Amino acid sequence: MTVRIDRDGEIAVVTVDNPPVNALGQVLRQALWDVVGALDRDACVRAVVLICAGRTFIAGADVTEFGSPPLPPHLPELVDRIEAAAKPWVAAIHGSALGGGFEVAMGCRFRVALESASVGLPEVTLGIVPGASGTVRTPRLAGVEAAVELVTSGRPVKAGKALALGLVDAVVSGNLRAEAVTFARAALTRPLPPPVSARPVTAPGADWWDIQRQAIAGRARGELAPLRALDCLRVAAERPFAEAVAHERATFLDLRASDQAAALRHLFFAERAAARPAHLAGIEPRPLRKAAVIGGGTMGAGIAAALREAGRPVVLIERDAEAAERGLGNLRAIFDGAVRRGRLTAAQAQERMDGVTAGIDDSRLADADLVIEAVFEDLAVKREVFARLARACRADAILATNTSYLDPRQIAEGLPEPGRFIGLHFFSPAHVMKLLEIVPIPATSAETLATGFALARSLGKIPVQAGICEGFIGNRILKRYRAEAEALVRRGTPIAAVDAAMRRYGFAMGPFEAQDLGGLDIAFVQREAARAAGKDVPETLGDILVRAGRKGQKTGGGWYDYAPGDRTPQPSEATAALLAGRIAPGPALTDDAIAARLTGAMADEGKALLAEGIARKSSDIDLVEVHGYGFPRWRGGPMFAAG
Ligand code: 3HC
Ligand code: NAI
Repeated sequence: MTVRIDRDGEIAVVTVDNPPVNALGQVLRQALWDVVGALDRDACVRAVVLICAGRTFIAGADVTEFGSPPLPPHLPELVDRIEAAAKPWVAAIHGSALGGGFEVAMGCRFRVALESASVGLPEVTLGIVPGASGTVRTPRLAGVEAAVELVTSGRPVKAGKALALGLVDAVVSGNLRAEAVTFARAALTRPLPPPVSARPVTAPGADWWDIQRQAIAGRARGELAPLRALDCLRVAAERPFAEAVAHERATFLDLRASDQAAALRHLFFAERAAARPAHLAGIEPRPLRKAAVIGGGTMGAGIAAALREAGRPVVLIERDAEAAERGLGNLRAIFDGAVRRGRLTAAQAQERMDGVTAGIDDSRLADADLVIEAVFEDLAVKREVFARLARACRADAILATNTSYLDPRQIAEGLPEPGRFIGLHFFSPAHVMKLLEIVPIPATSAETLATGFALARSLGKIPVQAGICEGFIGNRILKRYRAEAEALVRRGTPIAAVDAAMRRYGFAMGPFEAQDLGGLDIAFVQREAARAAGKDVPETLGDILVRAGRKGQKTGGGWYDYAPGDRTPQPSEATAALLAGRIAPGPALTDDAIAARLTGAMADEGKALLAEGIARKSSDIDLVEVHGYGFPRWRGGPMFAAG
């Protein structure tokens, strides 16, 4: 049953039970609608506690319904009906009260939350605005400033902060139901506060709104919902309640039907499906308690930090004592950075460091359940490492390589028990980037593969399975993207015009600016290695720049020039002179045409990856691009954007 009513004396306890997350589908809306009427008519009931079964309070509207026209009873009316009920309702919140779930809670006269709970309005992350008075009731509860932050960021807040902001009335621990009933009973002994819709709101001046608009527009990079949400909040602050609700609803319905919302819904479901792929259903992952990382450089330190964040003790093995110290220093720098940004306290950073032991002694690998190798990108070095791991580790320890381009089959050659071997391709910085490409070799067991996915989930990463080819999914598309960008330059499109067009499309950086930041030499070295191995790799424009010493920002110039201490790209005469012979004049392209060319090339490469079986699903490719390469989320990824 979706909704159940129990009694605790004069208090009715309404329990919503609509797994998995108590989403407000039509059936639940109708059930709650009917319950309000029934309890209003019941003379024995003096107050109502609204509580949920399962892992969370109501997590919002049912997103699966967003593709079709809304059916009555509509959520705004349901929220109004709860607020207008003859008996006061008390929302008892555990897990998350999100979107429509929090809107229902705001229709209640009181909100009581477990200390572990959070509340929020994440609608903008789905390309919409709250559609059941979230932008109108929130400023009446917590003030305009807090409402703007909550609604335009979409980020939920924890119960403690929600209490400080006035979003909830009490934070409790222990038995939520009992605490909420006690709260309701106590509330009946005092005059009731006005319903949220009747509370006053103080409108800031026009200047304040202008500042907010500027800040949000800067972050949104083409995303519509945050700015439309800000408009709703302004109407909510300046106009009567009913008018503001009508404006919000119209905006919600408009955006609900938009391409951006469709793109963001696509990713919402793709992300959840990625974590638990159907082909691994029923396969038990191996328990992972102790982890080790080989190599404490850029990637090894980032991977170790990610493992520590997930609470795992980490053994870090380096090639000599000095390198081990450097590895620890790299980790320390990561946690110190988190302290500077306010993400960790100094004590938490120390606790993270205390869980790492670094050294050169392989005997410490004997009880590791998982070892991730992140040493130099060199087949011989990696093979030697795995030969050592075969001797030092348990025969059932999972052994993973973080190689970017090498063939994992060659790395695993000669390894005893190769069923435990797998590629786990993290992205830099590994403790930040959400993407994890999981690359099995033919010998990899299903259990090892399932363990890779379980590891990703425990690290909060988005796992995508990739087959073996040069660059797997992401770097192969990146190569094609860069080649297409160079092709445009060869046909006369200015370097800066390509970058500007991709920024306008929604990337934080264009392809040339990004190479200058990361260094042109990495891909160059790899091309040179392929050439040395006898492969036919045509000369790129990037090769010409690297040969002239222009490796990017670190050498003061690459595609662009950089003034010392300034990261602003300046068009470069030196680059123009170096490339002059390779550039033929061509037609001027609009920003849209440039973006269409480059994203179209990405989608074409994606189709090839699907045809070759390297990628399993087109939505996996979208996840790789969005989470690993900065593809604008609201475009849904190159495959989605290509239609
Ligand atoms: N509608 C439909 N299905 C939903 C859903 C929703 N709002 N939220 C989650 N689900 C589904 C997921 O797709 C997943 O399905 P699956 O098992 O078939 O893959 C299942 O519920 C479990 O979801 P998670 O794996 O995300 O579960 P977690 O326990 O990790 O997280 C959660 C729980 C924090 C509640 C998380 O699910 C979440 O953030 N959900 C989205 C909340 C949201 O965006 N709400 C706003 C909706 S828009 C709205 O309310 C408009 C209103 O203003 C009118
Ligand atoms: P790095 O050069 O920063 O670090 C490599 C570390 O491995 C060094 O600290 C070195 O001392 C150590 N090392 C070398 N040989 C060793 C051995 N035999 N035993 C123990 N430690 C040894 O390199 P980075 O960038 O961290 O790359 C590591 C791996 O990750 C490479 O395979 C690379 O292709 C891959 N990768 C790199 C990404 C990046 O953006 N830097 C992204 C994804 C993967």
